[in-house]
Formats: sequence, structure tokens, C-alpha cells
Amino acid sequence: MAPNKPLLLVDRFGRVVNYLRVSITDRCDFRCVYCMAEDMEFLPRSQILSLEEIRTICRAFVELGVKKIRVTGGEPLVRKGVVDLLRDIGSMPGLNELVLTSNGSRLAEMAADLRAAGVKRLNISLDTLDPDKFRELTRTGNLQRVLDGIAAARAAGFERIKLNAVVMKNRNHHEVADLVQFALDNSLDISFIEEMPLGQVDRHHRGESYYPSDAIRRDLSSRFNLQAVADTTGGPSAYYRVQGSASRVGFISPHSANFCGSCNRVRLTAEGRLLLCLGNEHSVDLKRVVREQPGDIAALKQAIVAAMQIKPEKHEFNIHEQPVILRHMNATGG
Ligand code: GTP
Ligand code: 5AD
Ligand code: SF4
Repeated sequence: MAPNKPLLLVDRFGRVVNYLRVSITDRCDFRCVYCMAEDMEFLPRSQILSLEEIRTICRAFVELGVKKIRVTGGEPLVRKGVVDLLRDIGSMPGLNELVLTSNGSRLAEMAADLRAAGVKRLNISLDTLDPDKFRELTRTGNLQRVLDGIAAARAAGFERIKLNAVVMKNRNHHEVADLVQFALDNSLDISFIEEMPLGQVDRHHRGESYYPSDAIRRDLSSRFNLQAVADTTGGPSAYYRVQGSASRVGFISPHSANFCGSCNRVRLTAEGRLLLCLGNEHSVDLKRVVREQPGDIAALKQAIVAAMQIKPEKHEFNIHEQPVILRHMNATGG
């Protein structure tokens, strides 16, 4: 029998890291109330990784055994050159899955190009089906454009499309059943997300708007028969299947059902920091490595392997206290 290939990225707790999330820009055309404050400062261009630097870092990760790369933002589709970047990442030998998370605002124009570039699955944020509420929650967004984007994505033939809804008490919690119905009608999956306290926000108190996944399941039970399934996409969603349909309903429950024990991922910020956990500050400056030793992929790989030693055991979120983590979600794309 051939000896097993060594596991290359393993942390102190024995968790294998095979999933990289890459934020290619901190900018976004929306200002979702749970993600950003009203006034945000974005990074100057010189501080963010070039597309070439992102490619090099992704290549190092794939050589270290990463099988899945998710490109995120801010909104990744606002970055110029994103389609070429995706094509390059998607063709890296050894990578099984290139996936993307988007707010949907540009999908009407770009969905077909993304599919052609090799993106397998798409996650699209959608918190409400009410146009006025949509404008209120995103501050700048237009619901119809996103719905057109979802239609274009369906037409483009992705293997799966998942909606993401961040659920907030008294803002959109009463819409969860309508969102599931929309997912069923359009053959989509959907995940409901408990809001995480990253950075200061100014339109609500996160503790007061906390709406746990259990409450969502209870609300859905009068209209849908949900059956727990063991499906996994390698992400944190716990999935249920809706009886009589191919759609899955997922719950991402950082507060009510901690999933850190099975964490398989790390994040690259637009600034080039390798973040070892969404809910902690432990990080390594990979931009410095690529800029000081350009083209030296061995140095990069060494820095990445060493970083596994500081991956924290779990996040330290407390929704009822002031956020300890000052970065907003747009710095990491979730
Ligand atoms: P797939 O399972 O590949 O479809 O992706 P996903 O649902 O993990 O990714 P997506 O970009 O759609 O993120 C959905 C939500 O999950 C976001 O709010 C992320 O912040 C959250 N999330 C993803 N990974 C983690 C994690 O390690 N910790 C925490 N706390 N949240 C995470
Ligand atoms: N808590 C939970 N999810 C968030 N997202 C953005 N900010 C937060 C937050 N504070 C979600 C977006 C998107 C996904 C990548 O992360 O809605 O669907
Ligand atoms: Fe933009 Fe996504 Fe943040 Fe909304 S959640 S402001 S779409 S980065």
C-alpha cells in the first residue's frame, strides 16, 4: 500500500486546514447594517494585495494541500480583473473547488463569465424579499438588481447556489419562511446566519437583535418539514432538507451551536494578513513575505505552515458585549 501523503497544514488541535477564504477587496457597493458602520474608511490601493500577489499566495496554499478556495470581499465583483484572477485560481492543479460569495449586485452582468472562469458554486446574500427593507438593511442596495442577478446565476448553470440570510430579531426574522419558499421555488439552498459581533455598527444593538437558529427552526416548522441531514460543503452550516424538495436549509450558529472543533479554514484579508480565526486577532503578515521575497514560494509556504501553530482553538464572540474584534466583516468576507 502506498504511504499516505503527509498532512501539510495541521494545527495544534489536529485540525486539518484545507479551505482558504480570500478577501480580494474590502470595498463594497452595499453598506449592510450588520457588516459596516455608516461611515467606513477603505484601504488605499497600495496597502491591498495585487492580483499577482493573491495568485502567488493561493498557489502556495494549494501546494500545501488546500482543496477549496472561496473568493470573498467586501464585494469581490467590484474588483477589476476578478474574472481573470478566478480563471487562474480555478486552473491550479490540486484545487478541487473554486467558489465565490457575492452580494449579487453585479451578477446579472457577470454570472456567465464567472461560470466560464471555473467558479463551481455561488453563495449570494439575501436577507429580505421586501424592496424597502432591502434598501434599509443594505443602505444602498436595489433588491430587483439582486433578484436579476440570482436569475442570471441560475441560467449560468452553477452546480449549486446558496442564499445567505443574516437574521435579526424585529428586522427580518418574520421573513424566514418566505425566504425558504423563495429558495424552494428557485431550486436554491439557503443558510440562516446568527449575526457576529465584528466591528462597531450603528443601526442596532447586536445583543438585542440576536435571533438564534432554534427560533428560526421553530418558526419554519409550521410551513415546512425539515429533516436534519449529514451533508457538508466543508463550511459551518448544519443542513436540513425540506421534505419533497432538493433544496437544503442550513444554519450557521456561531453562538448557539459552536462549530470551531471542526474548523478547516483560514482567511487571507485584502491587506494580505493571514487570519487564523474569524473571531480572534491571531494573524501573520503574508504581504510582507511576498513583498520582501518576491517569487520565493518556499518562504511563503514556510510562513503558512508556521502560522498553523497560532490558530486559536475557538472564537471568543460575545454578542451581548461591545465587540472585542474591531475589524468589520468586509475585511474578511465572513
Ligand atoms: P459553503 O459551506 O462553502 O457554502 O460556505 P459558507 O457558508 O461557509 O460561506 P459563506 O461565505 O457563504 O459564509 C456564510 C457565513 O458563514 C458568513 O457569515 C461567514 O462569516 C460564516 N462563517 C464561515 N466560516 C466561519 C467560521 O470559521 N467561523 C465563523 N464564526 N463563521 C464562519
Ligand atoms: N455576522 C454574520 N454574518 C455577516 N455577514 C456580514 N457581516 C456579518 C456579521 N456581522 C455575512 C454576509 C454574507 C456573508 C459572507 O457574511 O451577509 O452573506
Ligand atoms: Fe457588502 Fe457583504 Fe458587507 Fe453587505 S455584508 S456590506 S454586501 S461586504
